[in-house]
Amino acid sequence: MAKSSTTFTCSACASSYTKWSGRCDGCGEWNTIVEDKGLSKSGPSGKSLGARRGSTVQLTDLATKEAPPPRTRSGIDELDRVLGGGLVPTSAILVGGDPGIGKSTLLLQGAAQFARSGLKTIYVSGEEASAQVRMRAQRLGLTDAPVQLASETNLRDILTTLENEKPQLVIIDSIQTMWSDTVDSAPGSVSQVRSAAHELTTFAKRNGMSVILVGHVTKEGQIAGPRVVEHMVDTVLYFEGERGHQFRILRAVKNRFGPADEIGVFEMTGSGLAEVTNPSALFLSERGTPSAGSVVFAGVEGTRPVLVELQALVAPSPHSQPRRSVVGWDGSRLAMILAVLESRCGIPFAGLDVYLNVAGGMKISEPAADLAVAAALLSAREDAPLPEGAVVFGEISLSGALRPGPQTENRLKEAQKLGFTAAIAPSGGKPIEVTGMSLRQMGDLIQFVGDIFGAG
Ligand code: TYD
Ligand code: MG
Repeated sequence: MAKSSTTFTCSACASSYTKWSGRCDGCGEWNTIVEDKGLSKSGPSGKSLGARRGSTVQLTDLATKEAPPPRTRSGIDELDRVLGGGLVPTSAILVGGDPGIGKSTLLLQGAAQFARSGLKTIYVSGEEASAQVRMRAQRLGLTDAPVQLASETNLRDILTTLENEKPQLVIIDSIQTMWSDTVDSAPGSVSQVRSAAHELTTFAKRNGMSVILVGHVTKEGQIAGPRVVEHMVDTVLYFEGERGHQFRILRAVKNRFGPADEIGVFEMTGSGLAEVTNPSALFLSERGTPSAGSVVFAGVEGTRPVLVELQALVAPSPHSQPRRSVVGWDGSRLAMILAVLESRCGIPFAGLDVYLNVAGGMKISEPAADLAVAAALLSAREDAPLPEGAVVFGEISLSGALRPGPQTENRLKEAQKLGFTAAIAPSGGKPIEVTGMSLRQMGDLIQFVGDIFGAG
């Protein structure tokens, strides 16, 4: 029986299936699985390649005498750091994010700066007319930058142009608008997006150019999301932020040329994105006098310490099933902390609504936030503020033991710089002294509850 080449792919997370279903097991989204016509039939069969024989590719060994070409810095430090210290020549980068978050703004500013640093740069917009991009450039004060613009969605025309122009950097905004005539489906579909990204990245690598692809995060099944092309590129950056907040965070989730988890912090202003060089001061700026339920967490994002305020509210619940609501942190991690507090320390949260918020629109994924979350929950529940001028960090294990995390010294130094005088942290690890900071170390959560909130 002839094998069918039809597969089904989730347009949000790129999981593939042999059968259609309504809900994707990979990411849990509904109605995102679509038929994928892009796959060709099986590869060569038998021992000999026969008529399908290709030419021999040239092999090299690992030894090299050539120095790697230097990275180009844009001069936007927050962007350069997330890239791992500047743009690596011949690299492929994906910048994902919700529509309207500021991707085009960031990349136009980046393109202008890279062009000013001497890279021949082409910015291809599939969404806006060149006149619109020029208007934006005028608003951002970038009209003098030597960036070449094009408004085009036909991939074949774009590749021909790139072949003639030979730029060093090309920006494609966005990959979902690109249309390749070799694939028989609508722009934005999984097979079009995958094929366009593949053609662009391989063309760029062969011709010694760097390519930056913009990808909108979508919830619609018919439009493929950026995760579909994550595996094809060297670096994956996500641009995040909460609506209603000015802050935007550029986060590296994959980087073949630098550390992942690095963040760059920006502020959206009337004249484009401005760098935020001291995010801790910014995230704490809205903080009033220390109150019950508010805790300052000394966190680390990539190579940089960042202090953020965690806020908790615990109130008697009018519902039979109490609410657990989290903004900026992982909901299942909150459930775990509540369970540990309940079963190891005997502090029940049954019948109580629990709200947890990371101030400033920041998202935290570090396990070292556990102790700060527990402190905020306890402080809100007992209506007792934490000792003044103290920061908190540490991971909690299911047994209730506290585990020291990485970069303790960096966290303490950052806290000291911002005027904090004390830190509550797990014991263990190597002893660390930072002048002006008193360190209170605890072995487990029971000791923490006893020491900070009295008997518990
Ligand atoms: P944009 O870069 O078009 O978002 P994306 O490409 O991710 O869809 O940014 C759109 C938002 O940014 C829009 O709501 C207006 C706002 N904005 C500013 O606040 N200031 C500015 O200088 C610019 C250019 C945009
Ligand atoms: Mg855009």
